[in-house]
Amino acid sequence: MSEPPRTLLVTSALPYANGPIHLGHMVEYIQTDIWVRFQRGLGHRCAYVCADDGHGTPIMLKAEQEGMTPEDLIETIGEEHRADFRDFAISFDNYHTTHSPENRACSELIYLRLKEAGHIARKDVAQAYDPVKGMFLPDRYVKGTCPSCGAADQYGDNCEVCGATYSPADLADAVSVLSGEKPELRSSEHYFVRLADFEETLRQWLAGGGREGCPPVQPEIANKLDEWFDAGLQDWDISRDAPYFGFEIPDVPGKYFYVWLDAPIGYMGSFRHLCARRGDLDFESSWRPDSEVELYHFVGKDIAYFHTLFWPAMLHGAGFRMPTGVFVHGFLTVNGQKMSKRTGTFVKARTYLDNLDPEYLRYYFACKLSHGIDDLDLNFDDFSRRVNSDLVGKVVNIASRCSSFINRHFEGRLSARLSEPGLYREAVGASTRIAALYDSREFGKAMREVMATADRANQYIDERKPWVLVKDDSKREEVRDVCTVGLNLFRVLMTWLKPVLPRTAERAASFLRCGDFAWDDVASPLLDHEIARFEPLLTRVEQGKIDAMVSESMDSEEKDDPGAEPGAETLDRIDISDFAKVDLRVARVLDARLVEGADKLLEIRVDIGDEERTVFAGIRAAYPTETLVGRHVVVVANLAPRAMRFGVSDGMILAAGPGGTDIWLLGVDEGVATGMRVK
Ligand code: MSP
Ligand code: ZN
Repeated sequence: MSEPPRTLLVTSALPYANGPIHLGHMVEYIQTDIWVRFQRGLGHRCAYVCADDGHGTPIMLKAEQEGMTPEDLIETIGEEHRADFRDFAISFDNYHTTHSPENRACSELIYLRLKEAGHIARKDVAQAYDPVKGMFLPDRYVKGTCPSCGAADQYGDNCEVCGATYSPADLADAVSVLSGEKPELRSSEHYFVRLADFEETLRQWLAGGGREGCPPVQPEIANKLDEWFDAGLQDWDISRDAPYFGFEIPDVPGKYFYVWLDAPIGYMGSFRHLCARRGDLDFESSWRPDSEVELYHFVGKDIAYFHTLFWPAMLHGAGFRMPTGVFVHGFLTVNGQKMSKRTGTFVKARTYLDNLDPEYLRYYFACKLSHGIDDLDLNFDDFSRRVNSDLVGKVVNIASRCSSFINRHFEGRLSARLSEPGLYREAVGASTRIAALYDSREFGKAMREVMATADRANQYIDERKPWVLVKDDSKREEVRDVCTVGLNLFRVLMTWLKPVLPRTAERAASFLRCGDFAWDDVASPLLDHEIARFEPLLTRVEQGKIDAMVSESMDSEEKDDPGAEPGAETLDRIDISDFAKVDLRVARVLDARLVEGADKLLEIRVDIGDEERTVFAGIRAAYPTETLVGRHVVVVANLAPRAMRFGVSDGMILAAGPGGTDIWLLGVDEGVATGMRVK
């Protein structure tokens, strides 16, 4: 890699400061961190910045609910976020907050420049207003009957039953989610960015505004943008009325910048805060239109719109440079489904950290990530299989096998020569390919290349059998040679894996006593070199830990997805053939008992007609055990058995209700035989 060093300003999206970081978020922070660590490894100067996104109505209301000021709320949550990121080894150069003086200054500056250049419009907007709360209601805070299909209890912007989109005023019988009162329609003046002013600029940027004249976005996103252009760029509403937690608009008392105006500017704010203490970075020149500094944003597909239209338009309109790349990723599902608290698949970063090594997840996500925007699935079985077989079984295994001979028989000293230069050269030859894959965010493909070399190394050791050679005194030097090749291949593997497994790499470096795995160091192998004693670098994933994590995620009392605005859960329709797959049976309860250590669960033995099953159900608060025996219930008979902390649950008993004492088992009329199919 003889490229001259570049300066890269890299960001991940700013998480909302009203809820915990979860594993879905971690896809993005891990993806960005791997990329940044890789770039730093090549010798490029990186400023990786992020911040908490602290403004907006949900945060204001959450603070009110918790009886604290929004400032205190975002401070507390910000601390938790920082700790989560630190423990996942996310190597931010700076983590700030959007509620900062730097961000206020940048936001005001951008707004005033846009205004001066004539890109700001003013218009009256009629909006739902809650007379009891005394505030305007974002669409998501109004509910009512869908004007299109008549479904009850739908949000003010779209119907989750028929998919219609509309405005809150179209809802029949609208009520405020906050007070339950009927909202009024009130008018107030709003400020807008005239996006259409920037259409030509945006088109040019999209065609070749990226690095070396490449498009700055992925083709999937470019297509989406074409649709938006065809539909015509609408003015973008950037103001909100008081009460609002945010920055007041200069010279417009009682009106605030909409959170999505100052959120991306938070990247600048955080960078500015960093520049104040880093002499090698310069704020002004980094944001000039002709800047040599490259600017990259990593974001999820839900917020691509903000980063590929509004943000570059704002930057350009205010006389700043535009991004070099906006890298969009897909969404995380867990065990094939949208994350949910009900199934224990809504896993907080902290719950994961309490149970499992963060390096596992970093590796697993690396395996699943590509440069595309497809969703990715975290499947817990696949997760342990891959980590155990690839990292522990292949990579770490090379080091533990080879080092024991070197330490025991050769006082920790490697051979002075490399006995298999061809094999080593072939392995190192993959470096350029792997670097290109990292650079283009094809981490999954990079991991496959790495593991192919690991396979090759293990195969070599298996063929040479040092454990057999060592028994023959005349072959002792051969043992040293084989293990020297093995350990040098291990060093190559760790060099490649270092962006993904920074902590394992650190342990491996002190075991090999070899510096810090700089990308190009593999050109010269470690010879006649003393290594340290082998310490376990990474241990196997234990199924019990995964079970504990899932059950802790399920036990969590919080009902709402804290990262989302209310009601973000959507109705996922299935067709009749999906439904036909579900084998529902009438079952009779034979026995029910309390589960020690679980305050919600019962262990229930049921007869489903042709066999007996044990099922765990969280209905303890609603059903004393003695009320259950003899009762007929409905059971999902073909659900895959699931290991829980207390045993295997083989099936599921159907019940309705929000939980706690409000749970009702689905009833079946008297006289229905056990084992009868439910259709
Ligand atoms: N605050 C805004 C971003 C402002 S950036 C100027 C926001 N916050 S968020 O907390 O909802 O999301 C932060 C990032 O995490 C986003 O890029 C989002 O796409 C990503 N993810 C949130 N849930 C996710 C998954 N389930 N899967 C993958 N990424 C996810 O949006
Ligand atoms: Zn509808």
